Amino acid sequence: MNLNKQLIDKLIEITSYAAVACHKYIGKNDKVIADKAATDAMRKNLNKLDINGTVVIGEGELDKAPMLYIGEKLGTGNGPEIDIAVDPLEGTNFAAKNLPGALSVMSLSLKGNLFNAPETYMDKIAVGNDVPTDATDLDFSIEKNIKNIADAKNKDITKLTACLLDRPRHRKIIDKLKELKVNLKLISDGDVSGALLVTDKKHNIDIFLGIGGGPEGVLAACALDAFNCKFQGRFLFEKDEDKKRALQMGIEDLTKKYNLNDIVKGESIFCATGITSGDLVSGVKIINGKYVTQTFVTKKNSMVNVIKKEVPIT
Ligand code: FBP
Repeated sequence: MNLNKQLIDKLIEITSYAAVACHKYIGKNDKVIADKAATDAMRKNLNKLDINGTVVIGEGELDKAPMLYIGEKLGTGNGPEIDIAVDPLEGTNFAAKNLPGALSVMSLSLKGNLFNAPETYMDKIAVGNDVPTDATDLDFSIEKNIKNIADAKNKDITKLTACLLDRPRHRKIIDKLKELKVNLKLISDGDVSGALLVTDKKHNIDIFLGIGGGPEGVLAACALDAFNCKFQGRFLFEKDEDKKRALQMGIEDLTKKYNLNDIVKGESIFCATGITSGDLVSGVKIINGKYVTQTFVTKKNSMVNVIKKEVPIT
């Protein structure tokens, strides 16, 4: 089976229903309840699909999370073996506080094509397809990465913009970027969307970098793959139990840098439906008595699109 149009339509429906389920909890200042609503809707609808699915990127381990957990089986079981990466509510704070940028995100590939990763932090770097692959690297200094991007784009360093999560752990990176006079876009949350800003010149982001969630890194990589962008990530296993779990999952080199083709192979589909409006898509709206959603959808080599969908109010 290949990942056909019919399946893409179903996935758009699934992230749309998850976004709509979360909609009533926007601004309730309760991120747990908003996340649960999106997760329950995503699970319910994935279980109707004729696939033999396994969650490879989810919300934690079975014993820790009532959410869609790594290893959870999804679908009717009557169909192809599929790897699924989920983040039913990416940006729990955004939904809880009614801020821009909450998304319902999912990615899917045939079994064995998506990286199976534990839930830890990841150091990430992403640049657009107008920068040669070898121009940036997690092991280069900030200065070298920035200079190489400026050279590749024939731009002055002071005209470049870097996007990263606004976190104390990024203090040194931020100071260095300021010293170089690089412009900053400091996001409070939502680094799937942050990484995807390198895909289109209209966002004016030349590099996305810094430490964020590993699952979010794998999800962003699926979409970046469709744009032939560069992504590199290195998981950060700080606690002994994370290291142990990684080894159990077959990750032998805990310091390995993963490039796009290590994270996602072959065809994959990525869907991100807006819950609140953000850089990529609009949030859920009610128009003429129906919910209307917008979904950012990619499939490598064949599709990059924003799709509108109507969902009945029940
Ligand atoms: P949630 O949706 O799980 O709240 O994650 C939001 C997020 O900002 C991610 O986009 C990002 O990868 C991660 O949190 C960063 O983690 P931290 O807030 O611990 O820095």
